[in-house]
Amino acid sequence: MQNIIIKKKHEIQKMRLSGKLAANVLDMIEKYLQPLISTEEINNICYNYIINTQKAIPACLGYKGFPKSICISINDVVCHGIPNKTEIIKNGDIVNIDVAIIKDGYYGDTSRMFLIGNVDYMSKKLCNVTQNSLYQSLRIIQSGISLSEIGKSIQKYVEKNNFSIVKEYCGHGIGKSFHEEPHILHYDNKYNKNIILQEGMIFTIEPIINAGSAEVYCTNDHWTVKTKDKSRSAQYEHTVLVTKSGCEILTIQKYEKIEKILINN
Ligand code: MF3
Ligand code: CO
Ligand code: CO
Repeated sequence: MQNIIIKKKHEIQKMRLSGKLAANVLDMIEKYLQPLISTEEINNICYNYIINTQKAIPACLGYKGFPKSICISINDVVCHGIPNKTEIIKNGDIVNIDVAIIKDGYYGDTSRMFLIGNVDYMSKKLCNVTQNSLYQSLRIIQSGISLSEIGKSIQKYVEKNNFSIVKEYCGHGIGKSFHEEPHILHYDNKYNKNIILQEGMIFTIEPIINAGSAEVYCTNDHWTVKTKDKSRSAQYEHTVLVTKSGCEILTIQKYEKIEKILINN
């Protein structure tokens, strides 16, 4: 049985703030993402901003023992990259930064790719297709549809573009907990079929897409996940509120061209 929490008005207000703060961290960090900065330095800038400016809590820090405040996943790292002093950003890298924060008891969670300097054509295409697969799924959300429509639309778009979907990680309900029901799978599946979207549901959609095969493995630090074939991987994530006739993107960022409030009928 599913236990999906429908958020009340006052909770939605709090989630709007947490979502906005998570998004603001990504807006803030963009100018620092240049060749020669270490992922440790990026982490520290985000940590200080979340704690001192936002008066919020970095949700990843200490989560199931994760040692840093944000995840930084570069090139063939699929997700959960751990910032460290020896990892240096370089020209041509594609870098995912995943930020989750807690403000006033509520979580916000978002990630995007940053393209560093001259990025090759395939990597640009990979990032573009990944972001569009997320956007396309946002454009079908409204109360009354089956949750499985989200995964279906992502799968159709990604496969048309000959990239592959990582199946081991999924989106999630979010609120007073970091990860709650339902799991949001990024491909067509039976599990999400009987779940009908309702106004007031809040969840993340966070497709991870590989340029090569979908196969991944977890490295011996027990966090960093990589592609088996060393192909590059991209991910975009938004926290989204379901409305009667569409959805509201709670983690929209400055650079984005999509509308914050989508009306989909
Ligand atoms: N932010 C990730 C998500 O989108 C979770 C990261 S967990 C961590 O759900 F421990 F690696 F930080
Ligand atoms: Co998430
Ligand atoms: Co995240």
